[in-house]
Parts: sequence; C-alpha cells; structure tokens
Amino acid sequence: MLFSSDNTNLAPEVSNKIGAFGEKPKGVSCRWANMTENGLFNNNGKAVDPFAIFDSWLRQATASEPDDANAFALATVDNTAMPNVRMVLLKGHDRRGFVFYTNLGSAKGSELNANPYAAMLFHWKSLRRQIRVRGKVSPVGAEQADAYFASRPRDSRIGAWASKQSQPLESRFALEKRVAKFAAKFNIGPVPRPQNWSGYCISPLEIEFWKNGAFRLHDRIVFRRTDESAPWESTRLYP
Ligand SMILES: Cc1cc2nc3c(=O)[nH]c(=O)nc-3n(C[C@H](O)[C@H](O)[C@H](O)COP(=O)(O)O)c2cc1C
Repeated sequence: MLFSSDNTNLAPEVSNKIGAFGEKPKGVSCRWANMTENGLFNNNGKAVDPFAIFDSWLRQATASEPDDANAFALATVDNTAMPNVRMVLLKGHDRRGFVFYTNLGSAKGSELNANPYAAMLFHWKSLRRQIRVRGKVSPVGAEQADAYFASRPRDSRIGAWASKQSQPLESRFALEKRVAKFAAKFNIGPVPRPQNWSGYCISPLEIEFWKNGAFRLHDRIVFRRTDESAPWESTRLYP
C-alpha cells in the first residue's frame, strides 16, 4: 500500500536502513495510526499534505541515493509545442514551490519565458519511487538568486559567466578560453551573478506520488488544486 509503514517493496539494503517514513514510531503497530502521527493523513485516513510527503521522500532519498538525490527531469515545451526534457537540481523548496537555477538564455530559459509551465519528475531507483509535479513557473527574485549564486564554489560562478548555455560551441578550447577570460577579469575580486543566470520556481498544481508494488500493482496518489490558494484534493489512481 502506498505510504504503508512496511518496506516490502524496497531493496533489502534500503529497507534495513530506513522506514517508509523514517523511524517507526515505538509502540505503534497500526499503519494508519503511523501515518496520522506523521501528519500525512487526517483522521479519516485521507492523505492531506503533499509537501510533507515530498519532504519525507526527498529526505529518505538523500539518505539512501549515492548521488544527486535532488536531481529531477524538467519538462518544458518549445514554440512548436514539442516537449523537451533535461535534468536539473532542486536547490530549494517550500510551500511556494520548487526552485532550480540555470542560464536564462538556455533552451529551457527561452521555453519557460514563452510558456511558463513545466513538469518535474524525480525517480529514486533504489527506493522504487517516483514523484511527478506539474505547475506554473515564475522567476525567483534577484535577492534569492544572488544568495544562491554566492553560495556556489568560485569556479562554478566563473563557469556561469563563461557558458553560453545551449548555444553552439566550436571547441572545448573555446570554452576554456572563456573560463580563463572571466577568471582574469574577476581576478581575486568578487564574482557577481550574471544577469542571464537565475532561478525559477515551479508552483505545483499537481503532485503525484508513485510507489512500486508487487506484480506491477503500484500505488499512486495524486494531489490536485485549481490554483495556488485552493485546497488540495487527493485521489488514488489505478497503477
Ligand atoms: C544530474 C544533472 C543535474 C543538472 N543540473 C542542472 C541544473 O541545475 N541547472 C542547469 O542549468 N543544468 C543542469 N544540468 C544540465 C542540463 O541537464 C542541461 O544539459 C542544460 O541545462 C541545458 O539544457 P537546455 O538546453 O534544455 O536548456 C544537469 C544535468 C544533470 C545530468
């Protein structure tokens, strides 16, 4: 069952390490009671808070995945309505949405500029879980982008200046020359955020949790809301 406290669908090395929602509360044997304690279900056993579930699943993936548990596939559409998808890293999330950073002049930047909607997909193979999100995209504020940019290693900040992301590059050497150029330009001084480098926030209108089940009888639950201020409605889906 989705959100059950057992780990029968997880690889043994994972299920030995973690509970489906972290440590099993002591003395609680009923799985629905567990879920209520975790704040994921109301007294009727209905799932109520997709953000709490997301937090919990991401935390578990961070503990168990060898690399980049925060990596997700970001889907956009181009100006011919052809879908496009690539991996990016989740760099922040709260009830307002999911934040990632990129070059605004990249293919994804142009596509989001023309059509500010996106889909996201997390897949944690060893946990056998996926999360799908769809929503409206807006740019993050300059202050937030500055703060995140400043937290990056200096070489990554210089790389952001050097890369004309998604534009044709004649050779690796041409890129290295640009890196050297900006390294010399900033010398030992601060490296400010380039104007064309910032973040986007995907404010979810739909979040689906998928958990592997035996014999392909997977568990799926989708949360939908009509706009950002509306309450979530949860629905179980056939696998
Ligand atoms: C695991 C992983 C994480 C990545 N994270 C980012 C990221 O946070 N931001 C980014 O701009 N590109 C990231 N990339 C590179 C993108 O997948 C992509 O190649 C690049 O952004 C250009 O995409 P576009 O031409 O569709 O704009 C990542 C790639 C991988 C494999």
